[in-house]
Amino acid sequence: MIGVFDSGLGGLTVLRALTARFPEQPFVYLGDHAHVPYGNRPSEEIIDLTRAGVEHLFRRGCKLVLLGCNTATAVAARRLQTAWLPATAWKAAGHNVVGIVAPTVEAATQTPWAVTTPQYPQKFLTDRIAVFGTTRTIASNVYAEEIRKRCPKVTVLQQVCSELAGAIEEGETEADLERLVVAGIDGAMREAGGEPPHRAILGCTHFPLVEHLFRRHLPSATRILSQPEIVADSLEDYLSRHPHYKGDSAPGGRLQLLTTGDPEEASARARVFAGDGLSFVHLGS
Ligand code: DGL
Repeated sequence: MIGVFDSGLGGLTVLRALTARFPEQPFVYLGDHAHVPYGNRPSEEIIDLTRAGVEHLFRRGCKLVLLGCNTATAVAARRLQTAWLPATAWKAAGHNVVGIVAPTVEAATQTPWAVTTPQYPQKFLTDRIAVFGTTRTIASNVYAEEIRKRCPKVTVLQQVCSELAGAIEEGETEADLERLVVAGIDGAMREAGGEPPHRAILGCTHFPLVEHLFRRHLPSATRILSQPEIVADSLEDYLSRHPHYKGDSAPGGRLQLLTTGDPEEASARARVFAGDGLSFVHLGS
């Protein structure tokens, strides 16, 4: 089984792409609805919450956990991979945790993650790439640093959308969500001196849920990178190299949806964005 962890509903955008790509693969999704949103929390808290979520998914039988959350990945992935996991028995038992920033940077720069020095000739050498994310994702500077390592002349326009993920979780009206999206785009456009970005990364897994609003208000020349598809491509590649993470079947069904919060509320909110049939259970049950 493969675990997918997110602060709440956002990871469902990634999960949807994964279940479409791997129809036979058992997945367990854990949304930390009791603590969502993560985006404005202190880093240490995000690390602790993410570690707790990953451990829970390991205990449930997931050998591989994908952090389907940019904030958790940007703030916690490296700490968990390099400091926490190696000191646990999980590592020896072959468990692993991966994030979603690396594949997104690879796609945005057309450069494999392992390549950390500029390669010439380079595509997109002087492009502008806009990154929209939570306060903590943008403050981590991970996207800008990793893109510039590979493409130093690319201009990275980083834009905090601090209230958007929370507003999506709260099921706020389309008009309110649109106002927040427009404010974010205006901020990025100001930073770019009015020049349209060549590409936009919706660097929060909640944001594909309002991608139509980004599309409506971004310049038509700006291509929105589809992070869920990028992550599905990357996982396909990863699993082809590490087939033992695939697993055969999941006890209780192919897809389990767990929440740290109120299952009825999580299921109802998920329905707004992902249609019927998504039924969360509390992780203690
Ligand atoms: N969905 C998450 C992300 O990709 C976090 C949003 C939040 O909880 O603030 O950043």
